[in-house]
Amino acid sequence: MGARIVLDGENIEKFKAMTFPEYRVLLNEPSGNSGLICIVSENETHPEGLLISKVDPHKRIADILSVFVRKECRKTGIAQEMLQLLEMRLSALDIQSVELKYTVKDDQPQPVENLLRKLGWPASNLRMMLFDIEIEKLVSANWVEDIKDAQDDYQISYWHNVSELELARLQSASWIPTELSPSKHQYQGLDGKAIIPELSFVLRCNEEIIGWHFTHKIDAETARFSVSYIHPKFQQNLLLVKLWYHAGIEAQRVGYKRVKLGASIRHKQMMQFCERYLGPLATKIDYSKGAFKLLQTQEEAVWV
Ligand SMILES: CC(C)(COP(=O)(O)OP(=O)(O)OC[C@H]1O[C@@H](n2cnc3c(N)ncnc32)[C@H](O)[C@@H]1OP(=O)(O)O)[C@@H](O)C(=O)NCCC(=O)NCCS
Repeated sequence: MGARIVLDGENIEKFKAMTFPEYRVLLNEPSGNSGLICIVSENETHPEGLLISKVDPHKRIADILSVFVRKECRKTGIAQEMLQLLEMRLSALDIQSVELKYTVKDDQPQPVENLLRKLGWPASNLRMMLFDIEIEKLVSANWVEDIKDAQDDYQISYWHNVSELELARLQSASWIPTELSPSKHQYQGLDGKAIIPELSFVLRCNEEIIGWHFTHKIDAETARFSVSYIHPKFQQNLLLVKLWYHAGIEAQRVGYKRVKLGASIRHKQMMQFCERYLGPLATKIDYSKGAFKLLQTQEEAVWV
């Protein structure tokens, strides 16, 4: 039977298990309006694969949210067929580019990279390093001795002690990159995960706020260090690790076992810092990568 594009209103319940939980809800309405394109593959008796893509017709871009082929059906060309079908549909819709983000776990080879290469996609780029760390390891890191009892002018306190006036001042401060602004993270993470107030801190020097650290809850045992930022003038003072250590101690106290932290390539210095201080402690480091392909739209096809 092979691969085909799912029609508006078609029930694809039996394919739902082939994508991430957060995308399963989207499959209740794979219609033209939602911008979703679902491609399924099945044989006479079984579902074989599912590809989900989300299109933004205004920006003329598409994301592949997930692509999956059942284990027993792999290496028979199913994913390749689904991707080719998608590219044809996107070109027909005049979409100019398509992107796929995926994770390489524990430095294992990721078959999707070969698949994309075979279909003429350019090499992927690193997006983020994802560190997984036991709290136990964090609070006994070899750098802890350097910062633990240091007498200095910096004070760490809970973020919820920050006053309205201080918050207002931060809103207009020019040294804060927009995406790291406390207002974006102090109540919940960008993905809606709840803040953990006991693990979220403000850093002050002579009563001026010069940094912060926000932690969000992934599950009962896992916390995520989502955003830590220090004023550029103070960045060389190991203040970041001081905040992490403090968060680690509090995390232990309230019962968390491990912490996750993602460092984006957009903040290269921060990524290198994490690699140096957290890399040796990590149980595992995953790599989030992004692949991007320019498509040949119908209009351009006339001229080539
Ligand atoms: C990645 C995945 C979708 C590939 O599906 P598939 O149907 O087995 O892939 P295809 O049979 O179409 O393979 C096409 C090409 O991809 C490459 N490829 C596929 N599986 C591979 C593997 N295990 N190792 C190395 N290369 C592989 C090969 O180049 C292959 O061409 P070839 O057979 O001529 O050498 C499948 O392995 C899968 O579902 N993995 C788990 C989910 C996942 O990682 N998704 C990607 C991120 S969202």
